[in-house]
Amino acid sequence: METSRRTVLAAAAAAGITAVAAAPGTAYADPSAKGGRMPVKEPFGTLADGTRVHRWTLENGGTRMKVLSYGGIVQSLEIPDRYGRYANVSLGFERLEDYVASSPYFGALIGRYGNRIGGSRFTLDGREYALSVNDGPNSLHGGAAGFDKRVWDVEPFSGPAGTGLVLRYASADGEMGYPGRLDVTVTYTLDGKGDWRIDYAATTDRPTVVNLTSHTYFNLAGEGSGDVLGHELRMAASRYTPTDATLIPTGQLAKVAGTPFDFRHGKPIGRDIRAAHPQLVTAKGFDHNWVLDKGITRSPEYAATLRDPRSGRIMRMATTEPGLQFYSGNFLDGTLSGPSGRTYRQGDGLCLETQHFPDSPNQPHFPSTVLRPGETYRSVTVHSFNAG
Ligand code: BGC
Repeated sequence: METSRRTVLAAAAAAGITAVAAAPGTAYADPSAKGGRMPVKEPFGTLADGTRVHRWTLENGGTRMKVLSYGGIVQSLEIPDRYGRYANVSLGFERLEDYVASSPYFGALIGRYGNRIGGSRFTLDGREYALSVNDGPNSLHGGAAGFDKRVWDVEPFSGPAGTGLVLRYASADGEMGYPGRLDVTVTYTLDGKGDWRIDYAATTDRPTVVNLTSHTYFNLAGEGSGDVLGHELRMAASRYTPTDATLIPTGQLAKVAGTPFDFRHGKPIGRDIRAAHPQLVTAKGFDHNWVLDKGITRSPEYAATLRDPRSGRIMRMATTEPGLQFYSGNFLDGTLSGPSGRTYRQGDGLCLETQHFPDSPNQPHFPSTVLRPGETYRSVTVHSFNAG
């Protein structure tokens, strides 16, 4: 088998072909491709309805990642520290049952709508739609059974752009109350530098709204190693969207200058998190959408940098999106524990969710999240890892 693969690769190289795609499900290193090795598939458990869930392992450019077909969940993300020592820097679980039973969206793909829609309702083209209610009066992260709880079709690839997975899900017309059948494709790519890129695309057959994101909880010191209050965060955002008591934006775009929300020059997350600012008291920490100064861009542009001074691990994010939800893990209460066996408490991980603003369907002056037939929704986010 190995010999025949080598022969094929040698023939391809002689013919000037630099990357040879493997058949889905196979795994081998293609020495002529920058893409690294083809992702490897293994069983990860079975859902109550008999659906099999798989786990895919990806590796390229010094980054290792494990992804589930359930929810497109990033179950682990391993990157080196300044001495080359690897740690899993994303919160998650060891077993499928734990994800199904009660996960605060650990590592998951979020849709159809990242964050909240106020009153679980919106009006589009004069018609009101009632959504699944799952967070007080509001609809959070697509409702009770959002994309984080769906099984995605997964197709691996390895080529010049890197190694990765194409995840597909078709959301039926009316699912969770949203109009239109939504065909969603999300591509995870690890490139030759170890950067993790997410490409989101979606089309619809009826006018609808869409706002997709990824809900990885990062702890650059390693999951289960304690809190992230010492991590330094920088966000290229001069404004944020304050919220009401149920975390729905008031509609105001408030200046961060002179407030605990000013991360423009970078600061430790713990520095102001306990300030008596009413917005921090309501949200029990940071749980807000920052308005990125760059706005919506055609290609990904700089949004934020997260750095753990202890391990030296650094993550830089670039996106096409206009907003960034920084959630400081406020609702982790010690009832869940990760693969390390250690419990997750408040602040033990943080999310940086690239997105359009929460509740945009009800806030006409926010950038629009409407998608119409014939259009393609696109969004790109790149996470670059480094250590120093
Ligand atoms: C939201 C939080 C929510 C969390 C769920 C975040 O994106 O902003 O309010 O509690 O997701 O774990």
